Amino acid sequence: MLSVENLTLHYGQSQILHGISLTAEPGKVTAVTGTNGVGKTSLLKAIAGRHPYSGGSITLDGKPLDHLNAFQAGRAGIAYVPQGREVFPLMTVQENLETGFACLPKSEHKVPEHIFELFPILKDFLQRRGGDLSGGQQQQLAIARALIMKPRVLLLDEPTEGIQPNIIQQIGRVISQLRSQGDMAIILVEQYFDFMWGLADSFVAVTRGEVALSGKAGEIDREALLAKVSI
Ligand SMILES: Nc1ncnc2c1ncn2[C@@H]1O[C@H](COP(=O)(O)OP(=O)(O)OP(=O)(O)O)[C@@H](O)[C@H]1O
Ligand SMILES: [Mg+2]
Repeated sequence: MLSVENLTLHYGQSQILHGISLTAEPGKVTAVTGTNGVGKTSLLKAIAGRHPYSGGSITLDGKPLDHLNAFQAGRAGIAYVPQGREVFPLMTVQENLETGFACLPKSEHKVPEHIFELFPILKDFLQRRGGDLSGGQQQQLAIARALIMKPRVLLLDEPTEGIQPNIIQQIGRVISQLRSQGDMAIILVEQYFDFMWGLADSFVAVTRGEVALSGKAGEIDREALLAKVSI
């Protein structure tokens, strides 16, 4: 289980996260939602070792992930699918996928077939440049690249942003399948309310760098959650 406790984060003098706490269990989808600029991406960056946090703690199965850098966080089993995807535009799909090998021993440097079962389109486009893919295909590639490293924690930062409905549905199915494997904790940052409402096992609403409301599916009130994430 991933556990974040009382996390604070600054950019220079400006404090963005004011003591965020949440947990993410294997085989569950934990949705983190909130309006623009409340600190959702900053939270994921802190977990992924992409930006240093100022205080609090992040632990995985009780083991502290003490201010790891991005490579160390990857080695520890944390994969990050960034907002905006960050596919390498001049590298082929194959090469983009292979960047996921960085955290794996040489003996595992092979793209597993199940990646193409999840995202068949990538197999057809292996030699195409990342930058030539559509936005939806790039999102699939970004998720596939993260899965290559066999993560224990998958961080998805607004995977539906700017994506057409049929690809959104496919991404939803992939997230459900990954959940059903039971071994991966999935944190889904999402502002598309109905998508995350239908998918997640628990919810965390963030306002101005703090948790405003949290709870499990079936217990948390939909309208109360919606009110926290609408202006
Ligand atoms: N590198 C940075 N330097 C300074 N301020 C930053 C930096 N990155 C983000 N911020 C600020 O931190 C705050 C939180 O940003 P963050 O990207 O975490 O929000 P978010 O909830 O992901 O927003 P969105 O829904 O638009 O993606 C914003 O006010 C943003 O301007
Ligand atoms: Mg963001």
